[in-house]
Amino acid sequence: MALRDIILDGDPILRKRSREVTAFDDRLAKLLDDMHETMLAADGCGLAGPQVGLLRRVAVVETEDGYFEFVNPVIVAASGSQKGSEGCLSVPGKSACVIRPQKVKVEYYDRRGRKHTGEFEGFTARACCHEFDHLDGILYYDKAVKEDKA
Ligand code: CO
Repeated sequence: MALRDIILDGDPILRKRSREVTAFDDRLAKLLDDMHETMLAADGCGLAGPQVGLLRRVAVVETEDGYFEFVNPVIVAASGSQKGSEGCLSVPGKSACVIRPQKVKVEYYDRRGRKHTGEFEGFTARACCHEFDHLDGILYYDKAVKEDKA
């Protein structure tokens, strides 16, 4: 495994749409391993492909609910809402309040190309929404609301 450089806000790659993964190969496995290691080393709870300079639809999330790897994730259902503070490893030292669904249902593939459906809630749902937005070139502060706004 190896640490990868984290792309910082201002780099246009963070604003591009990532492409679907089509090859479930050793290279994908290495990328996911590296992303997990890089995320942990940076003390983060999620990381998406564009943040390591690769426009591929991959993300890793680690919360108290566990460690999850998402390849080609799609949110197929969402319910409820939660308001809370978010930060991003690509936007160091900053945070903003963002409204996210309380629960999401996600269809995704694992590193071997097997399809899964998972339901996530609370902070893990928030992390999924944040990371998957990266795959469409969206940063959390695009969705920021004032703290007192419902
Ligand atoms: Co982020």
